[in-house]
Amino acid sequence: MANAVKTIGVLTSGGDAPGMNAATRAVVRTALAKGINVKGILKGYNGLLNEEIIDMDATSVSDTIDRGGTILYTARCLEFVDPEYQKKGADICKKHGIDGLVVIGGDGSFKGAQKLSALGVNTIGVPGTIDLDIACTDYTIGFDTAINTAMSAIDKIRDTSTSHERCSIIEVMGRNAGHIALWCGIANGAEDILIPGKYDFNEEKIIEKIIENKKKGKKHYIIVNAEGVGHSSSMAKRIEEATGIETRATILGHMQRGGSPSCKDRVYASMMGSMAVDLLAEGKTNRVVAYKNGEFVDYDIDEALAMTKDVDAHMYEVSKLLCR
Ligand code: ADP
Ligand code: F6P
Repeated sequence: MANAVKTIGVLTSGGDAPGMNAATRAVVRTALAKGINVKGILKGYNGLLNEEIIDMDATSVSDTIDRGGTILYTARCLEFVDPEYQKKGADICKKHGIDGLVVIGGDGSFKGAQKLSALGVNTIGVPGTIDLDIACTDYTIGFDTAINTAMSAIDKIRDTSTSHERCSIIEVMGRNAGHIALWCGIANGAEDILIPGKYDFNEEKIIEKIIENKKKGKKHYIIVNAEGVGHSSSMAKRIEEATGIETRATILGHMQRGGSPSCKDRVYASMMGSMAVDLLAEGKTNRVVAYKNGEFVDYDIDEALAMTKDVDAHMYEVSKLLCR
């Protein structure tokens, strides 16, 4: 069957995530294998509007699978919410002969993809964010690497926390979602895990538990706090005042987004990037690639954006049993 597209554009948008390069590489190499040309659009929708568009061949993505960040660079482009700029973006795609587009990013980026689809540019979204906060998929590119990076950092904080018999509050990324906090909270054996929508802001309860644990001879108290709960530094001050136990807050920040991608991120990102090209070659548009119940699948973007998800309820219940 002939390909429905002749030239595919690929861009990364929103926060970068380890594994985005593997996805880009898979888009480029799958497209070339099908006889489709590829153009890289630099710096997300910003680069599209500024026509920062480069030709890509198989060697453009050599030596990139193990690299963190995104070789296409990324940006947030506030203008792109404006229909006038969306039209400009679609016109630029057409001017450059781009009749298919792969957008690697999060929900925000998919909204841009949805608009470009409606304007006649066949567009497919690939979920790339360390936050795991895309409802239609059980996996997002970068989450696996980010939780392993955060877990290693928290292990190190735990060493010094134990030596000084301190309490440590470690704030992890995730925007309004608590997936990174929940996974690290369990993996690092935290005494408390604070998650948006679950944490009841009852600091008294935490303070009582810290004092109880100290009496039982516990040498540290690790609280993994989600970015969406925040206020780690002021919480540390209040806990120190109330318990008399030295308390330190560490905000892990952007180190969680960097680094060489894990094996899972490299492989799943490759599968998703390749599948995005398959969908375009079949003439599909306005779809998002997802991993659901153990399979790579695709959803209509409108449907995907309407879905909601919370942290895994069972995993959260188990974490409550394990935090002591
Ligand atoms: P993510 O894609 O990781 O969710 P953002 O929410 O920052 O990250 O969105 C990335 C970019 O997607 C924005 O800077 C903007 O260019 C584009 N975008 C976000 N929302 C919309 C929208 N409603 N319409 C069109 N484009 C959007
Ligand atoms: O979406 C990824 C993410 O790292 C979030 O966890 C965090 O809230 C946000 O991006 C930070 O954005 P910026 O890099 O613009 O500070």
